[in-house]
Amino acid sequence: MTKYIDEAKAILAANDRGGYTVPTDRLYPFQWNWDSAFVAMGFAAYDIDRAYRELERLAEGQWADGMIPHIVFHQPSDSYFPGPDVWRTDHVIPTSGITQPPVFAMALRQIYETAVATGSVAEERTLALYETALKWHRWWYRARDPEGTGLVALLHPWESGSDNSPAWDIALARVPTVTQTVVVRKDTGHVDPAMRPRDEDYNRFIHLLDTYADCGWDPARQWQRAEFKIADVQTSAILLKAGEDLQYLAGVLGRGDEGDEIAALNERTRQALKAQWRPHFSRFVSRDLLASQDVVAATQAGFIPLLALDLDEATAEAAGAEMRKWCKGMQVAFPTTEPGSASFEAKRYWRGPAWAIINWLLIKGLHRNGQAGFAEELRRSTISAIEKEGFAEYFDPKTGEGCGGLGFSWTAAAYIALERADSSAIV
Ligand code: SER
Repeated sequence: MTKYIDEAKAILAANDRGGYTVPTDRLYPFQWNWDSAFVAMGFAAYDIDRAYRELERLAEGQWADGMIPHIVFHQPSDSYFPGPDVWRTDHVIPTSGITQPPVFAMALRQIYETAVATGSVAEERTLALYETALKWHRWWYRARDPEGTGLVALLHPWESGSDNSPAWDIALARVPTVTQTVVVRKDTGHVDPAMRPRDEDYNRFIHLLDTYADCGWDPARQWQRAEFKIADVQTSAILLKAGEDLQYLAGVLGRGDEGDEIAALNERTRQALKAQWRPHFSRFVSRDLLASQDVVAATQAGFIPLLALDLDEATAEAAGAEMRKWCKGMQVAFPTTEPGSASFEAKRYWRGPAWAIINWLLIKGLHRNGQAGFAEELRRSTISAIEKEGFAEYFDPKTGEGCGGLGFSWTAAAYIALERADSSAIV
């Protein structure tokens, strides 16, 4: 509805800090990587120039080795921990030292296609951002899959974007809670601590940060010293979907050789992801590389591969049926942890709540895999949750209550993208 679209646009305008968008005021006062990619897809619906700009500002944070960090600290703020002094990286614009899910090329393709359709394509801007994305994808494979398995690994839970997911519990329990850096949390001063990760999680997050800072942020040294190393199906699936979009862009931009290179990387990831399907769970599982074990915790990550794979009908239906089971009795889908499981917490960040951007990815995945009816239900559920509760960071799936930060950019962007078309048109 127009009223809510106007509100969504007003949130993106209010969170604009000069060509880039903060996720929300105070709680997240800088530019976050995957947040900005989703935001750029929201802007693509009504302001192509601003959509390009969002990605360009993120690209300013790209490291010489190709990594795009998870936070770009364009301007100082004292409302967030850990800030640049804790990260100790040496990029010209201060940044964090880890990365986040590579949604960037998905956004770039959407911006490009919308620009073509509206006669506003900017060839040079597209090409520059394509090169940024290509460098980043090469970095993922070099730095986070040095053995060439096809699945990329996370060295820090923050890299998943799903910071305190039950998927990390077993692996994170092995990480010491001692830190060199004094942990002074700011997040719990902005939102109810019961909605945030626990202090022991934060100690481990910062322990890992300290370890990697000691490695001078060199990817090979980090790989050797990592005390947390998960080959993650959510990140790998996003990388593959973004890789497909990058391959498409290589084609239209006349970069045939690069297109072949990307296609080969994509194919390896496609096969590796398919091998992570576990029929007895009806979902995909990540792999704990240090323990040589499957990550069996039941989280949304197990269904994200639908985004990037064309599954056979029986597999797609099994995944869809399992997802429906999780939605039973929920006010708002899709819960990020299986309801009823011991680790499910309806309000605590990534341990159960429904997130509009996760739904966005799942809707695309369901649609790709012949589940248009379910995709449409999920789209409507997401829209009505936002219309009832506002543009909250996420939603309690049991009550529908909006939780976490308010006036949230990626929820606004998801609303704009999901509201304007039925799910078949969500590219
Ligand atoms: N999501 C993390 C935080 O809450 C880090 O990116 O700060």
